[in-house]
Amino acid sequence: MATAANLPPDDVSHGLDASPVEFGVAAMDLAHRNLLNELSQLRDVCDQEFVRCYPALVAAVERDFREEENLMETLGLSSFRAHLEQHARMLAALHCTMSGACGGDTAPARAAVGLLREWMEFHIPSMDRELAAAMQARSAPGATMQ
Ligand SMILES: [Fe+2]
Repeated sequence: MATAANLPPDDVSHGLDASPVEFGVAAMDLAHRNLLNELSQLRDVCDQEFVRCYPALVAAVERDFREEENLMETLGLSSFRAHLEQHARMLAALHCTMSGACGGDTAPARAAVGLLREWMEFHIPSMDRELAAAMQARSAPGATMQ
């Protein structure tokens, strides 16, 4: 997997401005919308504002991923490890650019933000869709928690 550190900013797409896939799971749909909104806002800010906002963005991603991972573990999803691995790889790209961004070198972090947007284009309709389906199945009438 390419990391943000080895991608120049122009090599990442910034085309995902549409609403993400929605699953009818309110908390997950809201988290995806909020994250995409944050990414859109962060794309256009000056470096000084980017440096101020980037740690909060990374913390929000960490929180969202942790919430999904807790749900997957609770639901006993067979895809838990693969989903966890995708989260870990994306977080690694964000984390490895943090100190540079905080020091004023925002290009790798901006590339990581672009990478996150691209990553969400495939992660949400695949991995998150499976989690959403499991959540809906467990909340269906007659479904029981293990
Ligand atoms: Fe996920």
